[in-house]
Amino acid sequence: MCGIIGTIGRGEAAPLVLEGLRRLEYRGYDSAGIATLVDGRILRRRAEGKLNHLADLLATDPIAGTTGIGHTRWATHGAPVERNAHPIATDRVAIVHNGIIENFADLRTELTAAGYAFTSDTDTEAVAMLLTREMENGATPQEAVARTLRRLHGAFAVAIIFAGYPELLICARRGSPVAVGYGEGEMYVGSDALALAPLTQRICYLDEGDWAVLSATGAQVYDSEDRPVDRPIKLTALSGAMIGKGNHRHFMHKEICEQPAVIGDTLSAFVNPTSRSVVLQDLPFDLAKISRVTIVACGTSFHSALVAKYWFEKLARMPVEVDIASEFRYRAADMPEGGLALFISQSGETADTLAALRYAKSQGQYIAVLVNQPESSMVREADVMLQTLCGPEIGVASTKAFTAQLAVLACFAIAMARARGKIDALREAELTTALSEVPSRIAEVLADEPAIEVLGKSLIEARDVLYLGRGTAYPLALEGALKLKELSYIHAEGYAAGEMKHGPIALVDENTPVVVLAPSDAYFDKTMSNISEVIARDGPVILITDEAGAAHAPAQAKVIVAPTCDPLIAPLVFAVPLQLLAYQVGVFRGADVDQPRNLAKSVTVE
Ligand code: M6R
Repeated sequence: MCGIIGTIGRGEAAPLVLEGLRRLEYRGYDSAGIATLVDGRILRRRAEGKLNHLADLLATDPIAGTTGIGHTRWATHGAPVERNAHPIATDRVAIVHNGIIENFADLRTELTAAGYAFTSDTDTEAVAMLLTREMENGATPQEAVARTLRRLHGAFAVAIIFAGYPELLICARRGSPVAVGYGEGEMYVGSDALALAPLTQRICYLDEGDWAVLSATGAQVYDSEDRPVDRPIKLTALSGAMIGKGNHRHFMHKEICEQPAVIGDTLSAFVNPTSRSVVLQDLPFDLAKISRVTIVACGTSFHSALVAKYWFEKLARMPVEVDIASEFRYRAADMPEGGLALFISQSGETADTLAALRYAKSQGQYIAVLVNQPESSMVREADVMLQTLCGPEIGVASTKAFTAQLAVLACFAIAMARARGKIDALREAELTTALSEVPSRIAEVLADEPAIEVLGKSLIEARDVLYLGRGTAYPLALEGALKLKELSYIHAEGYAAGEMKHGPIALVDENTPVVVLAPSDAYFDKTMSNISEVIARDGPVILITDEAGAAHAPAQAKVIVAPTCDPLIAPLVFAVPLQLLAYQVGVFRGADVDQPRNLAKSVTVE
């Protein structure tokens, strides 16, 4: 949510910052800007809209300087117009900011009364003004930052440059992540290691409350009490080569097509193919003694949690509670002794999920996180990390992270079932064998993309679309609807198929397509009855089923035939036609499928 980047060193800052912003654009794309220092003065270029607008501006009106900061914005305070684009600057400082300054209104009142004139609607400008006032009163940049940070409430990451100090860049972190990169005679700061990947793999992550003073040759980190501290420099596994689109038109399409490979990689970290058993790392708790599992997540990750609930309850007979992170926090629920709290997050940075994690920790729960980013905030606060091996997911709509999360969750449920004595080795072998078939089954779905494209065309004029499913297909219906909303801006809702008659059926008419997910499992016949109810009301039906199911499809339904597979893996396999369908509809409608409007990849505000 907002990307920040900065550099200080030998080379021209603006091109390097612009390239970094391209890698961060997935975090926000309402507006973008760059500031550098030239002859001790702050120069700034800012543009509304996508980064290309800033690039065009810089092409016609370049800025020099070897110290610079840049920002790509996801608007929180103030409309996405140039006036509110970062860097926010005075004649003394320029600042880029990710997060929210919660007491900005009080600060603004105080500073306005002191004669400071604000020119933007942002919360960030209060920080720029505080710094400016400190420096006007004689503080050094370091003193100004230390004093200003003490005045701020909220969660934020900032990078700041100072007029008259070409050898200085200061960054700070509270809540939102900051990575400091070490180059050769050049230093960098970024929202994540991905932004810095082509520049350096030597990264230092600031701890909560830290701030750092960078020169071209190094950095000194201070903790929240302003004491100098050493933070380790780590080698990130990310490299610049992981961030291309390949031959695909969109990142999202590439990421959908990567699913056989990334699920294969992920499973190989959890399944021993010889013993056909699940292998987990050493856990700091006994799986057999866990009293309850609480799974908390947001968005697509929440949907994978909902699928996992069926698996943990059915296979492992384990009581499971699932909630979205924001509401879970507000419930202030008592959590049982010996409970395991599992947080699912592609980014590992989602603010609500992180806050829920901290609440569960305060309740004495064991904390496990399932993330795709091993160098993320959640990992640093967890007892156990389970990792999806997806590589960077750049498309803002999550695809490969979802199915890879499901793969890990299935393994975890199997391991728990075994530990609790609810399945034997033979059943474990059957289940892991089924899992090992996922990459091939998904490859079969991908080969059917042209047929799915045709059906996608049939949805492009729809105003509303309903998605229905039973059992694990119910959370998939929620996910299918979310993908369609994000990618095509068509209103879509997912429902448990059995709930349709309790209200949503009122929406069904000849203009409301209904996408039904129905593998030929134990619930198939009941879902077919729901299809009949839709058809009786002239609702157009797209049925996603397998071969046996297709044989029973009503003539009025358009059918996508997914491969026949074990019920355990059906959610992973059936997710892919849903992704392709939403992708195709988005592309036909001319939407920006990689960067849907109003969204950001990593949601680091509450
Ligand atoms: O990084 P996380 O998994 O914590 O992100 C959670 C949601 O913000 C994310 O899944 C979001 O819903 C995606 N846009 C879904 O496509």
